[in-house]
Amino acid sequence: MKVPFVDLASQHEEVADEVREQLEEVFVTTAFVGGPQVTAFEQEYATHVGAQHCVGVANGTDALELAMRAVGVVPGGEVILPANTFIATAEAVSRIGATPVLVDVDGEHLLIDPDAALAAMTSRTQAVVPVHLYGQVAPLDRLLPACLAAGVAVIEDAAQAHGARRDRHLAGSWGTVAATSFYPGKNLGAAGDAGAVTTNDPQIAARVRVLGAHGSATKYVHDVVGMNSRLDTVQAVYLRAKLARLEKWNRLRGEAAERYAGLLADVPGVRVPRSLPGNVDVWHLYVVRVPDRDRVLAELGRAGIGAGVHYPTPIHLTPAYWHLGLGAGSFPEAEAASGTLLSLPMHPHLTPEQQDHVVEVLRGALDGPSQDRTAG
Ligand SMILES: Cc1ncc(COP(=O)(O)O)c(C=O)c1O
Repeated sequence: MKVPFVDLASQHEEVADEVREQLEEVFVTTAFVGGPQVTAFEQEYATHVGAQHCVGVANGTDALELAMRAVGVVPGGEVILPANTFIATAEAVSRIGATPVLVDVDGEHLLIDPDAALAAMTSRTQAVVPVHLYGQVAPLDRLLPACLAAGVAVIEDAAQAHGARRDRHLAGSWGTVAATSFYPGKNLGAAGDAGAVTTNDPQIAARVRVLGAHGSATKYVHDVVGMNSRLDTVQAVYLRAKLARLEKWNRLRGEAAERYAGLLADVPGVRVPRSLPGNVDVWHLYVVRVPDRDRVLAELGRAGIGAGVHYPTPIHLTPAYWHLGLGAGSFPEAEAASGTLLSLPMHPHLTPEQQDHVVEVLRGALDGPSQDRTAG
């Protein structure tokens, strides 16, 4: 039995008819950029995350850069972010000409360590970017009061946390501003690249909109140097259809996570993920930790099980960021985790039979190299 890491085809099947009809209209009316579909999605997504404003953009990396620029991150400034994240979080900072200041993560949830983040603040700090990794919500409660008191923006990287909450706070409406990605494999995934910025601050929203439209609020009047980063109408149509199903799909992910936890409870050597108290996670990824990870990953691959590693190399040890001069040993928790992380198949259409099979293969792989078993 093959078990895919994600199953976008099953998601598509649920929305296909609805989307086909709407897309036909987009193509007939040739309203490819902007228009009522984009406006409707922005409103619906803002409502979904409990934010006053949503600005659709071209992808999650642009969303981060635009959010940063909108809160005043400028060349030479510093932006604090965790060492264990997707590279885009750091890239957005670098693209502005600011400096990513990396900090370690907590050893259990691998979310930004709030004490480390606060300790890294200097007079040059312009923003802190907690990343809601794997579908969790980072502990903004520990960061926000001190950041706001210091005049430092908190920019949520909410790319992996559509629909997640911590206590009464929804990811995407808690910080100064939030950036998200609708890359196809995300909990809410487009049919290509797409992203959004959400905020409760009308001025930040307006700045993002201007910066993403060539620095222009009025056609051919360019007050600042911006960029072209807009949400395609086709993507808005697809995202609206999927957004209507997101809550159900997140619930199914939660049920799958619970099943995994039960099945893995007696598998020696596996450390299962646990939600931070107060969190309602949306299980974008189901990340366990195992010994001898690379061999185990290879064995899962040979058995037709889609698994991954998020992420194999912390940002400071990635060649693109060697220039920061942070060698091995700089962030012990992120580094220790990176060698053991293993993301198992996780998506709303994962069946109990598939999960039984994944765990059976994983158990076998952890028993030892497969050639040993055949030899024995
Ligand atoms: C945590 C995180 N931040 C940012 C991004 C960047 O989003 P995109 O690929 O849409 O540019 C992603 C996803 O790819 C992500 O997982």
